[in-house]
Amino acid sequence: MLQRCIACEATYPLDQVCYTCAACGGLLEVRLGAERFADPRFEGRGVWRYASMLPGGDGERVSLREGDTGLYRCDRLGAALGVKNLYIKNEGDNPTGSFKDRGMTVGVTWARRLGFKTVACASTGNTSASMAAFAARAGMRAIVLIPDGKIAMGKLAQAIVHGAEVVRIRGDFDDAMRLVRELSEADGAIYLLNSINPFRLEGQKTLAFEVVDSLGAPPDAVIAPMGNAGNISAIWKGFTELECARRIERLPRMIGAQAEHAAPIVRYLRESTQECRVANAETLATAIRIGAPVNWPKAVAAIRDSGGEANLVTDDEIIAAQRRLAREEGLFVEPASAAPIAYLARYGVTAETVVCVCTGHGLKDPDAVLRMPADTKVAEPTMASLRAALEA
Ligand code: F0G
Repeated sequence: MLQRCIACEATYPLDQVCYTCAACGGLLEVRLGAERFADPRFEGRGVWRYASMLPGGDGERVSLREGDTGLYRCDRLGAALGVKNLYIKNEGDNPTGSFKDRGMTVGVTWARRLGFKTVACASTGNTSASMAAFAARAGMRAIVLIPDGKIAMGKLAQAIVHGAEVVRIRGDFDDAMRLVRELSEADGAIYLLNSINPFRLEGQKTLAFEVVDSLGAPPDAVIAPMGNAGNISAIWKGFTELECARRIERLPRMIGAQAEHAAPIVRYLRESTQECRVANAETLATAIRIGAPVNWPKAVAAIRDSGGEANLVTDDEIIAAQRRLAREEGLFVEPASAAPIAYLARYGVTAETVVCVCTGHGLKDPDAVLRMPADTKVAEPTMASLRAALEA
């Protein structure tokens, strides 16, 4: 295994700490040696079931039983949205309630192996919650930078309770990301665990492995919300590795959903803008409120190479999709996670089997629900008043 630049193909040893290519500044990825693809053996449960395809799988692991999340078949919603076989991969089932745990178990395991005692990230919420938990598990110091006032309460509570040092940046996620990169590059004792770190994405690719394990074959399309754009890239990498290992014979189309006013990748693909960036990104799906996604070259490659697409959905469509999934299928996901359902409702997808990646649990952001028009009722503590309220 080694690290390789996706732009100029320069290579680096696995244990060299570098977040981007020293030669050209490109993004790095972990490349498995050919022997890994010969006959991969998958044993046990969760992310580490796939240890033979992961860096750090051979040593002591920092784990909280991540992965092995539910793949829910949703026939009623599928019929309404015109999809024969619709599945939700419910990443809210992870220990801290989001897909980030898949990446953090590998990222923090790797940090410890390299001898780091401090890990850091910028976050719209879930990354910080997950990193804080895994750092606590490993006995490490955690530093998180968050955009002040723009993260969901549940996520902030998680980072605090797990003992992270939380710094509220008076700016947006993109400012926090820039600062934490500078901090970890300047201070050799701090290990950066944003998704620019390719080891984290290795953990996240296991979602693809699980989907294929569950369905016995790849779906025709996968729809994922895009923020910093690491996840869609990681899932695509997982599918391509299974193809290399001859476990699957075809690849799914990768489809990215972004929020209307935080859609740099959609814009980039549509208008061939020079930069993949929008100023002042805004959406109530705060998890994906990102204007300058660091992993955009990987995500664009995943979408193009898979014959996929990316489109935007409005905040209203996201909230409607969140409700619909909760009311018609019993799954409560956070707003960003409902973007793939909103995508299906607005654009449709010509495919028989579709997996929507629902990235985080709905309880992380109760405000998003409680901001909706109130549909609760009030009664005096009497039966008459209760009956009147129920009939109103
Ligand atoms: N959904 C949720 C719930 C997220 O928290 C995120 C990203 C995404 C989707 C997008 O994933 O960045 O890999 O494209 N959250 C990050 C964070 C940015 O800091 O928690 P992505």
